[in-house]
Amino acid sequence: MIRLSSLSQGRPPAASETAHQQCIRPACGAAYELKNVHQRCAKCGALLDVLYDWERLPVPDGLALFDERRASSRDPLDYSGVWRFRELLPFAEPDKVLTIGEGQTQLRRTDGVAAYIGLDPARLFLQYEGLNPSGSFKDNGMTGAFTHANMVGARYAACASTGNTSASLALFAGVSGLLKAVVFVGSGKIAYGKLSQALDYGATTLQIAGDFDDAMRQVQEVCLQTNLYLMNSLNPFRLEGQKAIMYRVLEGLNWEPPDWIVVPGGNLGNSSAFGKAFSELHCLGLISRIPRVAIINSAGADTLDRLVNHAGLRWNGGNVDDAAIRAFYAQMDAEKRKARTIASAIEINRPVNLDKALRTLEATDGVVRAVPDEAILDAKAMVGAHGFGCEPASAASVAGARLLREQGVIGRGERVVCILTGHLLKDPHATVGYHSYDEAKLREEFGEFGVAQARHANKPIPVADDIEAILRVIKDL
Ligand code: F0G
Repeated sequence: MIRLSSLSQGRPPAASETAHQQCIRPACGAAYELKNVHQRCAKCGALLDVLYDWERLPVPDGLALFDERRASSRDPLDYSGVWRFRELLPFAEPDKVLTIGEGQTQLRRTDGVAAYIGLDPARLFLQYEGLNPSGSFKDNGMTGAFTHANMVGARYAACASTGNTSASLALFAGVSGLLKAVVFVGSGKIAYGKLSQALDYGATTLQIAGDFDDAMRQVQEVCLQTNLYLMNSLNPFRLEGQKAIMYRVLEGLNWEPPDWIVVPGGNLGNSSAFGKAFSELHCLGLISRIPRVAIINSAGADTLDRLVNHAGLRWNGGNVDDAAIRAFYAQMDAEKRKARTIASAIEINRPVNLDKALRTLEATDGVVRAVPDEAILDAKAMVGAHGFGCEPASAASVAGARLLREQGVIGRGERVVCILTGHLLKDPHATVGYHSYDEAKLREEFGEFGVAQARHANKPIPVADDIEAILRVIKDL
C-alpha cells in the first residue's frame, strides 16, 4: 500500500511530472510521456495504462471531499460526474479539461428487478448510465480522451463503433468544436437511435461494408497512417474517465463497496476501467475491500467467456498466453465465425481490451458468463417495467446476474450493482419488436438470434375508433 501521509505543500506538481503512460505487461513496462499518442506499446504491442506517482500527488484523506463538491456544482469541473473525482485521474491541468456535463447519472435500488434476479429486497442497485448527455456510459470516457486530445492539440479524431462511441464522439466534437470527428460503423450494424445521433451531431460517418471488428481493424490502421486521434477504448485516457462510473457507484452506496459489480462485456473497456479504479482505490487506502466484477457476454459474441471458461486464459501476473489467443482467433477465422447478437452494442468478437479485462478478473476475483439473447430481452423488459429502461446490451448485466444467482455464484443476500450502459431509446426496433410481434413475426425477425418467445411482452391492443369498443377493452383491465 502506498503511504499518503506526506501530501505536498503548496502548489501540486504539474501533471506531466506525476503522470505517464506505461505498458501493462510487467515484463516490458515501457513508459511514455503524457504528450505522446500511442495506440499500443511501441516496444511490445501490449495495451497502455495511465499511471500516477501517487506519493507526490494530493490524494484526499477520505472520500467525503467528493460529496462536498457535488453540492457546489457551479464549477464545470465539479459539475462533471467524472472530473469532480479529478484527484483520482490526475493527468490533466484543469484548463485543459473538456467536459460537457457528463456523468449526472443515478444509482437506484430496484426491488422489482431484484426479485426477478432472485435477490432479497434492497440488495440490487441499477446504475443508469443511459442518463449521460449522449445516452450512454461512453461520455465518461470521452471527456477523458477529449481532454488528452486537447493536451496534444489533435484536430481530427476517429473511432470504430457499434453506435454509442460514435454518438458520444460526435456529440463531444459538435459541442466543443475542438476537432472534427470521423466515425466508422459496420453497415447496417448499429441501432437507429445511435446512427441518428452521429448524423445529427455532424460527424463524418463511414459505413464500412463489414462488422465492428472490421471497422475497428480499419480505424486503427487509418489512425496510424494519418494524424487522426483514436477515440476507442484502446485509448487509455478513455478508460481513466470510465473509472468514475465506479466512483459514483461507491458514492451512491455511501462509500461501502458492494459484493458484486455486473457489467456487459463488448470491447471490454468498462470492465478494464473498473478493475483499475478498484485496484487504485484499494492501493491508496480509500476502500478496504474490492467488489467482485462479473463480465457478461452475449452468447452470440462470447470470446471472453470461451477464452476464460473453456480455454482457461488468465492474466497470470501479466504473463498472458498470447499463443492461445492467436490460436483462438485463427480458429475463429477458419470457421468464419462472426459475432451475431441482438445486443448490437456488444456484437464484438475481437475485444481490444482483452488483456486489461483479464487483469480485472484477477484483481477482483471476477467471473465471466455468456447469456442468450432471449434472456437479455426478457431482462430488458423487466428493467423497463421496474425502472428507467435500457438498451439490449445493458440488460445483459441483469440477465447475467440472474444466471449467476441460479448457479449459486451470487448469494441471495449479497449486494449487487448492475451497470445499465445505454438508454432505452437507443434501439427502438428491439423494444417494439419484443413487445408487439406475434410468435411468427418474432421468429422471422429475431429467430436468427435464438429468440423464440417474449415472456414479458406488453402487447399494444388494437382497437376500433369506437367508444363502445374502447370501453370494452378498458373494462377488461
Ligand atoms: N453496453 C453498451 C450500451 C455499449 O455501447 C457497449 C460498447 C458496451 C455495453 C460494451 O462496453 O466495450 O466497454 O465492454 N459499445 C462500443 C461502441 C463498442 O462502439 O459503442 P465495453
